[in-house]
Amino acid sequence: MTASAASAIPDATSQQTKHLNDHRLSFTGLSVRYDRGPTILQNLNLSLAPGEFTVLLGASGSGKTTLIKTAVGLIRPASGMISLNGSVLSGKRPKQLRSKLSMIHQDFGLSPRLSVIQNVMAGVAAETNLFRVMLQAYPRTIQRRAIERLVDVDLSPEHFDRRARDLSGGQKQRVGIARALMRDPEFLLADEPIASLDPMTADRVMTLLKQLGRQRGIGVLCSLHQIEIARQFSDRIVGMRHGKIVFDGAPKDLSAKALEKIFGAPPSPVEMLSSQTGALS
Ligand SMILES: Nc1ncnc2c1ncn2[C@@H]1O[C@H](COP(=O)(O)OP(=O)(O)OP(=O)(O)O)[C@@H](O)[C@H]1O
Ligand SMILES: [Mg+2]
Repeated sequence: MTASAASAIPDATSQQTKHLNDHRLSFTGLSVRYDRGPTILQNLNLSLAPGEFTVLLGASGSGKTTLIKTAVGLIRPASGMISLNGSVLSGKRPKQLRSKLSMIHQDFGLSPRLSVIQNVMAGVAAETNLFRVMLQAYPRTIQRRAIERLVDVDLSPEHFDRRARDLSGGQKQRVGIARALMRDPEFLLADEPIASLDPMTADRVMTLLKQLGRQRGIGVLCSLHQIEIARQFSDRIVGMRHGKIVFDGAPKDLSAKALEKIFGAPPSPVEMLSSQTGALS
């Protein structure tokens, strides 16, 4: 995004807005806990660059989903701060800032009985008149944008009116990506987007995410637990364990020692193999 576009984003609120690292999504001293339970994310500091493809790598329960949900405002942090392009994202987020981050879900998050195009248009439901959403009568401009996004993710017109439940897993995730792109986000936060897909389909979806990020300058934070896929697609790998960042570096630096820090023990040959095929969950 350009400096002029950044300056077009109004301040979050007069008190909350601070000018921090421009053009980045930053987490500063972020701590998260659920209700009165233990602290899940602990004093986490992370700064993501536009256009960079970062894999958030960690074992089950390490806090990947918690971080992504906190980033998009679904979970309120106990302390710390999230900022985008210098504006603090906390409390109630104004629409202009909310729309800059989009989430992609592991289980696709589609409405199974709605058509493909209706699911994609739902990506801007929050910004659309409620009656229009209820009647599925989105303005023509939104319908056109949804078609463009579906073409961007390589779905063809024969799919547009199909019910989402009648698609394959890979097609469903493409619809999920198209929906996330409806808001023209600056960052995509993908929570295990390939967990339900077979290895070949997973490879295609990762390739698509990487291409879209590159072409549009969108920063991608993609949580995964598959080591080889992380190495293959990422520009940067952030390793998490027990809610803390224990590795942050280039894929080439993901040594056996780093993997031990992330996963707690050296991965066995079987784990390495299953992580390559996507079968490890
Ligand atoms: N709604 C919740 N209430 C209480 N604790 C939760 C809740 N959601 C997650 N947790 C706990 O927070 C920790 C981190 O969970 P999280 O789902 O973020 O991990 P994850 O890295 O995404 O795991 P996975 O790879 O299995 O998806 C876990 O200990 C989990 O039990
Ligand atoms: Mg998770």
